[in-house]
Amino acid sequence: MPDRPIDQEVERITSDLIADRRYFHQHPELGFQEENTARVVAERLRALDLEVQTGVAKTGVVGVLRGARPGRTVLLRADMDALPIEEENDVPYRSQNPGVMHACGHDAHTAILLGVARILAGMRAEIAGTVKFAFQPAEELVSGAKPMIEAGVMENPRVDACFGLHVWQDLPVGVIGVRSGPLMASGDHFHAVVRGRSAHAAQPHLGIDATLVACQAVVALQSLVSREVDPLQAAVVTVGQLHAGTAHNIIAGQAEFAGTVRTFDADVRRQLSERVPALIRAVAAVMGATAEVEYRFGVPATVNDPAMTAIVRAAASEVVGAEHVVEATPTMGSEDMSFFLEAAPGCYFFAGSRNDGAGKTGGHHHPRFDIDEQVLPIGVETLVRATLAYLGQPA
Ligand code: NI
Repeated sequence: MPDRPIDQEVERITSDLIADRRYFHQHPELGFQEENTARVVAERLRALDLEVQTGVAKTGVVGVLRGARPGRTVLLRADMDALPIEEENDVPYRSQNPGVMHACGHDAHTAILLGVARILAGMRAEIAGTVKFAFQPAEELVSGAKPMIEAGVMENPRVDACFGLHVWQDLPVGVIGVRSGPLMASGDHFHAVVRGRSAHAAQPHLGIDATLVACQAVVALQSLVSREVDPLQAAVVTVGQLHAGTAHNIIAGQAEFAGTVRTFDADVRRQLSERVPALIRAVAAVMGATAEVEYRFGVPATVNDPAMTAIVRAAASEVVGAEHVVEATPTMGSEDMSFFLEAAPGCYFFAGSRNDGAGKTGGHHHPRFDIDEQVLPIGVETLVRATLAYLGQPA
């Protein structure tokens, strides 16, 4: 057992958590450019006497804490990257990097995980098992988690469970949102090129109108969710781009469009990955055109394991009280924590960070995004308690 109860340990470091978060907020870096952030993180982890690996998936950092006794291995993940947004908050810790801003709260995630490492490092003698701290690059590009896993972060020792959190402006500070099963959607995308035949606008019979073919295909795509996907399953097919033609009086010989597909269910994901290209090609063929469709799998759905979710729910209840632990509302947004959750059972959860009274109401990715920093100690204590509970250590 630690010298002091966990909540007192967390209280003792809260001013440092705030200072760290503000430092990272002032020095935001875009995905795969988190060099200063990674340097600071690595220095801190080394100072805690952790085994530290840098340059994992370019700018990622992994710290390994080995407890005094053998046991299971748990991975805790934080993302470190910022967004290409000019900050509009007038606060002393405003971004000093023009055009770049921590507008999603990854500065808080980094500070929280450093705090968790500090507290658990202080309890090393009592810990049975291993804790891996994964500081991930490029979540906003949804491309940092996968290369970390490919670089071996889930091995040596093999990770048995994983936890992570996101500060969440849809929930007030002091509330924690937890959900078993799918929490965030898979995100895949497609790009189609339709080839018809150009002609004078006044002679449509001599051409094959690629614009019309593309429009028919876009309309037909809307029938997939409404007619082919099980109505009890969630899915989105959105075409966000369509480009065709060069002049108002020429029939376009080529058109291109691109879109995104979101689902919670792996079978629905597979179904749409087959049906989207097939439908586009068929519509083109029936109109005498051809279509090439490139379909790319992005991130899987973020799916929480029931047993791991129960651990987080219990930990969160100890921190904020069971009455402030709510069922998280799933979102069709995507998050590459999903790759860790695919590799090991775990739980990703939302820690409320909005404060209406204090004007901390800006949403994620907004130039006025800002959090109530009281979420920092709440996040630390919840992750510490969940980790200890998983490792079989009474907190
Ligand atoms: Ni985020």
